[in-house]
Amino acid sequence: MSEFEEKVRDTLANPQNQGEMADADSVGTVGSPDCGDMLRMWLKFTEKDGKKVIDKASFQSFGCQTAIAVASMATEMLKGKTAEEAAKLNAEELSADLGALPPMKIHCGQLVEGALKNALSGEDAPDKNTSSEDGNTSTLAQSISQQNKSSSPIKIVQLDD
Ligand code: FES
Repeated sequence: MSEFEEKVRDTLANPQNQGEMADADSVGTVGSPDCGDMLRMWLKFTEKDGKKVIDKASFQSFGCQTAIAVASMATEMLKGKTAEEAAKLNAEELSADLGALPPMKIHCGQLVEGALKNALSGEDAPDKNTSSEDGNTSTLAQSISQQNKSSSPIKIVQLDD
């Protein structure tokens, strides 16, 4: 087993911040056109020393183990960061604790970056872009089943531009 695989395995043994956040301020969802995996991230902000910073972040993944491992680490890393600081983090930085991602897994980190950017953009905009038509924020599983039915509430972001 490579060092990377070991780190993924260790992270998945105790993933952090997994699950829907009911009182989130914003939510972002992305899908990877490469593999069809999806990831949703929730952010909750708080005031600290006169600055608005991320109090907590959580995620739900319908995807591979690498994306879950990166999201687990990224949601820990985001705590205490301002939206501006968080927006500057790229996939490489978010997955830094795992070491360099193998070429086949680079888009897994980009999926996490995409969900974060999507959540941060939703934070500015009052109409959050992952809400379903009736205004309820659906679960990832519901979104996926809705997507399969007809119009999709999920914003698919091209990650490989
Ligand atoms: Fe697609 Fe990991 S294989 S997100």
